[in-house]
Amino acid sequence: MIKNLTLSILSALMITAGGAFASGGGGGHIENVQFSFDGPFGKWDQNQLQRGLQVYTEVCAGCHGLQYVPLRTLTDLGYTDAEVRAYASQFEVYDAELDDTRPALPTDNFPKGGVAEAPDLSMMAKARAGFHGPYGLGLNQLFKGMGGPEYIVALLTGYTGEEIEEAGTTFYENDIFPGGKIAMGQPLWGEDVEYADGHSNDLHHEAEDVAAFLMWAAEPKLMVRKYVGFMGVFFLTLLSVLLYLTNKRLWKPIKGKTEA
Ligand code: HEC
Repeated sequence: MIKNLTLSILSALMITAGGAFASGGGGGHIENVQFSFDGPFGKWDQNQLQRGLQVYTEVCAGCHGLQYVPLRTLTDLGYTDAEVRAYASQFEVYDAELDDTRPALPTDNFPKGGVAEAPDLSMMAKARAGFHGPYGLGLNQLFKGMGGPEYIVALLTGYTGEEIEEAGTTFYENDIFPGGKIAMGQPLWGEDVEYADGHSNDLHHEAEDVAAFLMWAAEPKLMVRKYVGFMGVFFLTLLSVLLYLTNKRLWKPIKGKTEA
C-alpha cells in the first residue's frame, strides 16, 4: 500500500516536471532572489511594489504594455483612490463610445505597449518560470517561488554589452535570453529612476523591484491563494488524524481479540 502510494506520488511528480523555458538558454545561470513573497508565508512588500511600478512607468512602459491589468487594482499597492485616478490620467486610451481618445480612468486597464515587437508584460512573470529544482521536481517552486521574477532580474542584468548586427537588425547579447541575443536593448543601467523612499537605485535593486511588480501584476491574488492552500492542507491534516483515531477506536474490540 505504502509502496504503491510512493510510486504514484513519484510518477505524479515526474509528469509535472515540465522543462523550464529559461533554464539557461543563453548559457547563463538564473540565481535565486530572496523575494518577500517567496515561500508559503511570503507577503508582498508594498514599498517594493510601488518602486517597481515607478520603474515600469518610467522605463518599460515606453515599449511594453500591461493590457490585462486593471488600473484600479493599484489600490493593492497602498495608493488611495485619488492617487490611482491621478496615475491613470497620464495614459491616453481609445474610447469607442466617444470615438476618440481620453485620459484613462481607474476603471480602464493599463494601455497596450507602443512597440509591436515588445510583448505584453501582464503575464510575463508567470510565463517564464526560471527554475524547477533538482530534476524538475517543482520543489524549488515550493521553497524559492516560481522563478519568473528571478528570470526577469537575470534577463535585465544579463547584458554583456555586445551588439550583434543580423540582416539589418540589431540584437543585444544577453546570457539569459534563449539563443543568447535579444531584440530589446538594455533597458536598465542603474540610477534610471529616483526613488521617493530613498531606496538604492542601483541596477540590481531596480531590476528586483520591477520584477516584483510584474509578479504582482501576473498574480495579484498570490497571498490569498497561499492562505487558502495553507488552510486546505491544515484541515486535511487534521481530518486525517481524526480519521486515523476513529479507525483505531472502531476496530479496537475486534483486533484486540484476534491478536490475543
Ligand atoms: C525600447 C523598447 C523597450 C523597453 C524600454 C523595454 N523593453 Fe522589454 N522588450 C522589448 C522588445 C522589442 C522585446 C522582445 C525581444 C525579443 O523577443 O528579442 C522585449 C522583451 C522583454 C521581455 C521578454 C523576454 C522573453 O523572455 O521573451 C521582458 C521580460 C522584458 N522585455 C522586460 C522589460 C522590462 C522589465 C523593461 C523595463 C525595465 C523593459 N522590458 C523595457 C523592448 C523594450
